Amino acid sequence: MPYPESRPRRLRRNENIRRMVRETALRVEDMIYPLFVVPGQGVLQEIPSMPGQYHLSVDRLPDTVKDLRALGIPAVILFGIPSRKDPQGSEAYDDDGIIQRAVRAIKETEEEILVITDVCLCEYTDHGHCGWVTPDGRVDNDATLELLALTALSHARAGADMIAPSDMMDGRVGTIRRALDQEGFADVAILSYSAKYCSAYYGPFREAADSAPRFGDRRAYQMDPPNRREALREVALDIEEGADIVMVKPAMPYLDIIAAVREAFHYPVAAYQVSGEFAMIQAAAQRGWLDGRRAMMEALVGIKRAGADLIITYAAPEVARLLREME
Ligand code: PBG
Ligand code: ZN
Repeated sequence: MPYPESRPRRLRRNENIRRMVRETALRVEDMIYPLFVVPGQGVLQEIPSMPGQYHLSVDRLPDTVKDLRALGIPAVILFGIPSRKDPQGSEAYDDDGIIQRAVRAIKETEEEILVITDVCLCEYTDHGHCGWVTPDGRVDNDATLELLALTALSHARAGADMIAPSDMMDGRVGTIRRALDQEGFADVAILSYSAKYCSAYYGPFREAADSAPRFGDRRAYQMDPPNRREALREVALDIEEGADIVMVKPAMPYLDIIAAVREAFHYPVAAYQVSGEFAMIQAAAQRGWLDGRRAMMEALVGIKRAGADLIITYAAPEVARLLREME
């Protein structure tokens, strides 16, 4: 029946009614918080392009994860800035590397917090590409796979619960899965950056992680933004290769991809609200151009509504506090 019998506003009259009919809920249990780990002692340095986010040295991690646990945040994803970079990114798979030490430090303090490690080479290579670069300047897919497997294994030995390959080489999920299984890490899960687009929104991260390519760009391995069907093929391949959770990245400009992946596959879907998405909201809020908290909550609930089960977000601590206040 149309108006005047139908009045959708009846269910918006007050907060009690709105809550009853609310279709999507943000939950702190679904949040994964990124941490940037740097060499040194006592380092707690704000990242200029990411207000409220910090470079942390390993000795700072125990206090940080205690705070995160107190807020109910279940998981962190770690990114490392090594003390030395070289053409083959060797600190990525050094058992005494920055991430390996970080994982051990976290697990010694908070056994239960889920530690996810980003597996890629771009923070560790002097050329800033995500893989092995040939003399003619191409990123060699198959030569990279072995280095990624070494990295994943080294993270697993340090105690990582979940491995998140972000390099976009073909075949990396299967290579990592086989390596983990062979070495007795069958329980270590893979959260694959399956549909990772070649995006301008990674800008602040690359500054924070010092991982911008020194020449060229990542278009020969990350996905072309206009492509949707290709995202579904990427996800299908990762699932066949053994991914436990599939991810779409970035989130807000790719909500249609999140929805399509949710619809097509019966696997948990993660979305990464990336550094540029975070920085845009912070920057506009600092200028008083919008209400930063509301804009952030709206962006995140939109990502959930599109179909994401899990969200990697720099706003996780703030969201945890806001959700608590709203209870
Ligand atoms: C490394 C990696 C990147 C991000 C996560 N892992 C950057 C890139 O691919 O250049 C981006 C995360 C963000 O922007 O918040 N491959
Ligand atoms: Zn990379």
